[in-house]
Amino acid sequence: MPQIIRWGILGAGRIARKFASDLSLVSDAQLVAVGSRNKTTCDAFADDFNIPNRYHSYEELVSNPEVDIIYIATPHMLHYENTLLCLEHGKAVLCEKPFAMNARQVKAMVAKAQEKKLFLMEALWSKFLPQFIKVQQMIKEGMIGQITSIRADFGFTTTEPEPARLYDPALGGGSLLDIGIYPVFVALSLLGKPDVIQATMTPTRSGVDEQCLVSFTYKNGAVAQLFSTISGNTAVEADITGRDGRIRMTNRFHNLTANLEYSGGNAETQKIGVDKDSSGFGYQYEARHAGDCLRQGLPESPVMSHQDSIDLIETLDAIRKAAGIQYQWD
Ligand SMILES: NC(=O)c1ccc[n+]([C@@H]2O[C@H](COP(=O)([O-])OP(=O)(O)OC[C@H]3O[C@@H](n4cnc5c(N)ncnc54)[C@H](OP(=O)(O)O)[C@@H]3O)[C@@H](O)[C@H]2O)c1
Repeated sequence: MPQIIRWGILGAGRIARKFASDLSLVSDAQLVAVGSRNKTTCDAFADDFNIPNRYHSYEELVSNPEVDIIYIATPHMLHYENTLLCLEHGKAVLCEKPFAMNARQVKAMVAKAQEKKLFLMEALWSKFLPQFIKVQQMIKEGMIGQITSIRADFGFTTTEPEPARLYDPALGGGSLLDIGIYPVFVALSLLGKPDVIQATMTPTRSGVDEQCLVSFTYKNGAVAQLFSTISGNTAVEADITGRDGRIRMTNRFHNLTANLEYSGGNAETQKIGVDKDSSGFGYQYEARHAGDCLRQGLPESPVMSHQDSIDLIETLDAIRKAAGIQYQWD
């Protein structure tokens, strides 16, 4: 694998723009190609990010021999087929979250990557951010003792007209898969898969989950309360409480901008400093990691492994079953 990792982007929407911008902060990465269904969108994207190769179809993008890895930034329901397309053409893949619509699709993606001996990773970017790594380190050092509860929420409001990607069931819309995945990921990363899952949702007019309320219970007595909504600006914070202390990840807990507050025993709450990049949205961390994995010839990430993605989607499947959230791919 060359020292400079050559990236392609598949789907030139909103998150693709942020990722492309952050890729410019990664010294050993080069954005060499973009593929879009739409010529005007594609040309504007390629011009804005100075990308030498622009393709008006995803098939042409994946056929470019100069591309090492493709970042997939299409709506959820396309992640499965887009990932298979890339892998079939010999490309490593970093695919947006949720990795696919259900565990069956994720397992097929992982099996294809293993068959083709190609790197594949879910773009669960928050797991690579310095403050989340710091939280894990603080817990490992025993600063809060055994975790007894986690509470995390993610909610925002949308403006009219309702964005199709969030409201249309045919695009995999709904709060859980789009943003509820972040509170779920925090609980899974820190407590593991729960023993009992309870969930309820309230639907939009289109039938997708507007709000989703989830509770996890663990055999050791720990619990997690997780919430997502696309109908209100919630705190977007995560509280991790242990027998000896508490860590609060402030608004927006999954972003590079989040701060950490710590209280141990009866001591006053203190801010915990974290070294982080002074610019970028935070997608540069996952991009650097994916590049490092490619250079080392790793088939999967040691941080966001295939099993981590399977655990995450299986948990989301179980939440959907409990809450009654269904899609045509079930
Ligand atoms: N990591 C994060 O922080 C983060 C944030 C937001 C979203 N996401 C994830 O990224 C993915 C894309 O989200 P987004 O907000 O960027 O969406 P978006 O702005 O709607 O962009 C999605 C792009 O996918 C392509 N596409 C292909 N088939 C499509 C179809 N049938 N309908 C609509 N678009 C189609 C389009 O690009 P072309 O026309 O150029 O082909 C479109 O611009 C989602 O899975 C979401 O969960 C992640």
